[in-house]
Amino acid sequence: MHQLPKLLDNNRRWAAERVTGDPTFFTRLTNQQAPGFLWIGCSDSRVPANEIVGLDPGELFVHRNVANLVVHTDVNCLSALQYAVDVLKVGHVIVCGHYGCGGIRAAMDGTAHGLIDNWLRHVQDVQRSHRAELSGLAGDQARIDRLCELNVIEQVRNVGRSTIVQDAWKRGHPLELHGWIYGLKDGLISDLRIQMSDLK
Ligand code: CO
Repeated sequence: MHQLPKLLDNNRRWAAERVTGDPTFFTRLTNQQAPGFLWIGCSDSRVPANEIVGLDPGELFVHRNVANLVVHTDVNCLSALQYAVDVLKVGHVIVCGHYGCGGIRAAMDGTAHGLIDNWLRHVQDVQRSHRAELSGLAGDQARIDRLCELNVIEQVRNVGRSTIVQDAWKRGHPLELHGWIYGLKDGLISDLRIQMSDLK
């Protein structure tokens, strides 16, 4: 509990600094948000979405969950996607995974973790559909890192197959999908180059 006052102090200092540099910062954001991007990322505390791409409040609409999954029956994620596409009319949806993802590691390690295993089944489905490639890699670390990448690719496809995105493309909404992966070791994002921008 003794750590919480520090967070509130930090907040007051942050708010004061924002208006020092830009007196209308909060009044502008109160009136509307107009982000150009939806970010679907992992909940991992080491991958703070806005910060690593240098965007301010109001510039990035964010949905995060363990292992950055887009599940066709997940109303939480689909609601964020629908709002971003249909209301905010973002031009880009970015699925950003990260190397060293604990969710991916847990999905691969073959032990029980309780309720979360039901969620991580989706990662295991990705693992199963790429079993041949993964088993050809040398070492657990290489397999985990490759599954982190393959998982991003599959989630981008899931975004593209959603009714929300399919309908947006049918309406001619120029919506692009991207798969990125973040390196915890160097703070750098790599583009997995799996852009989708039409009915595929
Ligand atoms: Co993660």
